[in-house]
Amino acid sequence: MYSLPKLEPIRDIRAIAVLTSGGDSPGMNPAIRGIVRSALNRGIQVYGVQRGFAGLIQNDLELLTSASVSNIVQRGGTLLKSARSLEFRQAEFRQKAAEQLAERGIEALFVIGGDGSLSGAHLFEAETGIPVIGLPGTIDNDIFGTDDTIGFDTAVNTALDAIDKIRDTADSHERHFLVEVMGRNSGFLATHVGIAAGAEMIIVPEHPVDIAALSEQLALNRNSGQGSSGIIVVAEGNEAGLTYRLAEQLKQHGQSPHVCILGHIQRGGIPSGHDRVLASCLGAVSVEYLLAGYSDILVGVQQGEVTDIPLDNLLRYRKGLDPELLRIALQLHR
Ligand code: F6P
Repeated sequence: MYSLPKLEPIRDIRAIAVLTSGGDSPGMNPAIRGIVRSALNRGIQVYGVQRGFAGLIQNDLELLTSASVSNIVQRGGTLLKSARSLEFRQAEFRQKAAEQLAERGIEALFVIGGDGSLSGAHLFEAETGIPVIGLPGTIDNDIFGTDDTIGFDTAVNTALDAIDKIRDTADSHERHFLVEVMGRNSGFLATHVGIAAGAEMIIVPEHPVDIAALSEQLALNRNSGQGSSGIIVVAEGNEAGLTYRLAEQLKQHGQSPHVCILGHIQRGGIPSGHDRVLASCLGAVSVEYLLAGYSDILVGVQQGEVTDIPLDNLLRYRKGLDPELLRIALQLHR
């Protein structure tokens, strides 16, 4: 359980809007439910925005009731749908969205998404003065200021389920597999998945890979009878096709690994219990933050404590991979 902040309401809010943006993540639905129920129980109207910032610009909003969020806590994806909006990067569209919110009497916007979406939310507040509260919704767990993000735990478990199966066939055929996981340009997902899967190697963007050394290690494992098969977890990185290129390079060094790209399977599925609790707590508490006078913040978690992080920190700092975790992961290799 998280330790929750004690917040005193100091302002009245009559209506809010909530949207999900960027890559969806398992747990967005319980987060929406947390916001909606927490707000309705305080007499605040809640509008759901369809398809993230795109729907905000198109004025595609509808009032949500308590029943609208019934029976969604266990569903992957997002009830509100999600999108990546190019238009929202332009000030004129952000202004248009703000005017439309004002016309409906909406006094604050809740954004559930990754760092790109939350940075957009910060700009929106800075330019329009409409209070914004962000919630970290991404499988990448790469958002500065929060130890955890909604969907990360489920995505780790989804990847593990797949890798456990790949290991069966890898063992039967004495093969090495390069298994690519998502995470964009950060290695959180790969490191956690790699540790939990007992991977023989983990390759992340934060540490350049030495192909010759990797190939030597695989040969060493094979010759010492330790590793005629194995799993190498690779973070996708920023450039498409990276894992296939790695496989090609390893081939030039005498190895013949198979490639398996886990892809979008990691974004779907039933949210884990952990993600449901995280999302529900962050959703409910985020409304309390708004009423306590906060705005332009991310509601996240630090060392088991639900806390607020200024959204502009996301523009200034990058969350670094914990070097200790990587050190431990590397110690567990064969
Ligand atoms: O940010 C979440 C994420 O799933 C990344 O891990 C991945 O690189 C990206 O989104 C894929 O985005 P899209 O579904 O738009 O291709």
